[in-house]
Amino acid sequence: MKNFKRIGVLTSGGDAPGMNAAVRAVVRTALTHGVEVIGIYRGYSGLIDGDLKKLGYRDVSNIINKGGTFLYSDRCPEFQTPEGMAKAVKTCRDFGIDGIIAIGGDGTFRGATELTANGVPCIGIPGTIDNDIASTDNTIGFDTAMNTVIELVDKLRDTCESHARCNVVEVMGRGAGDIALHTAIASGATAVIIPELPYDVSDICRRVKSARELGKRNFIIIVSEGVGSDVGPALAKTIQAETGVESKFARFAHIVRGGSPTLKDRILASTIGAIAVEELLKGNSNLVMCERKGKIVAVDINYALILDRMYKGKLKEGDLDRFSEKELAKMRSEVRAKQANIARLYGISKTINL
Ligand code: F6P
Repeated sequence: MKNFKRIGVLTSGGDAPGMNAAVRAVVRTALTHGVEVIGIYRGYSGLIDGDLKKLGYRDVSNIINKGGTFLYSDRCPEFQTPEGMAKAVKTCRDFGIDGIIAIGGDGTFRGATELTANGVPCIGIPGTIDNDIASTDNTIGFDTAMNTVIELVDKLRDTCESHARCNVVEVMGRGAGDIALHTAIASGATAVIIPELPYDVSDICRRVKSARELGKRNFIIIVSEGVGSDVGPALAKTIQAETGVESKFARFAHIVRGGSPTLKDRILASTIGAIAVEELLKGNSNLVMCERKGKIVAVDINYALILDRMYKGKLKEGDLDRFSEKELAKMRSEVRAKQANIARLYGISKTINL
């Protein structure tokens, strides 16, 4: 064990159900190891401003079931400047913060790796409803968001069935279609549109028409926000014009980001929070804790960030230079496996949802 006296914990970026459960696990695990915990409010903004509070065991009581994040969250452009970073490092020195657990998405991890390079060891925990972190199978909040979507879609289905209507539904996910694709399968949606794969509006209209001819009365089409905000509303109009089925549009937006975390998210958050602290106290840093094939494993942040860019097709010049051929081959095969999984799930949704 390294001689850590005090660590900090923060939540940053879009909030996600389960973040509180993760903070709770971080606080209690650290205290059990005799290490103090400082709650950093408003993500990296609070680190810059010194918006901090020492957290005791009971300060994190009754939050495992709460959505949002009691530490609040922020997106902090100042942290990306040398001045912002210097202020953040100074806060850590002034308050004796020996390391930080940062809960959030890829922006949070970029901040964490910069802080580590500036002498404050950090470990990241993936918390975002989008599930858009390529190095982990699941992010904290993804399961809750999906459960909220299917609950809402089930309600829409009731009224669609009564009126023989179609409802096009747009769900969040930023550039990732994970929420849309999984909830389309789970809610029996007639079609799904995600940014990862091409789509054909005529084909969607044909699917609605042929299902109608077979006696189907309710039609749900799920659209991921990543394909553009005009796609869903336009699709509803086209379906109505082309098929004669009355079609409505609904945007679920931020409603899907709130609410009490599911059992799966609470367990993921609690285990990943506890293991992240153990890693940090062992002297390890610059890591993202990931869930892979049901196990929590530590992945180097730089590997995770570049894998992410490779998967999202956003590689920049020089990004791959620091990796060995073996690591690059591993990254490429991980990207292929993720793409194949998306294609497979998409195929299944088309086959069984008509
Ligand atoms: O990353 C989570 C997320 O909810 C995305 O799904 C969405 O695109 C974005 O954040 C919305 O951001 P904001 O809360 O700033 O409107």
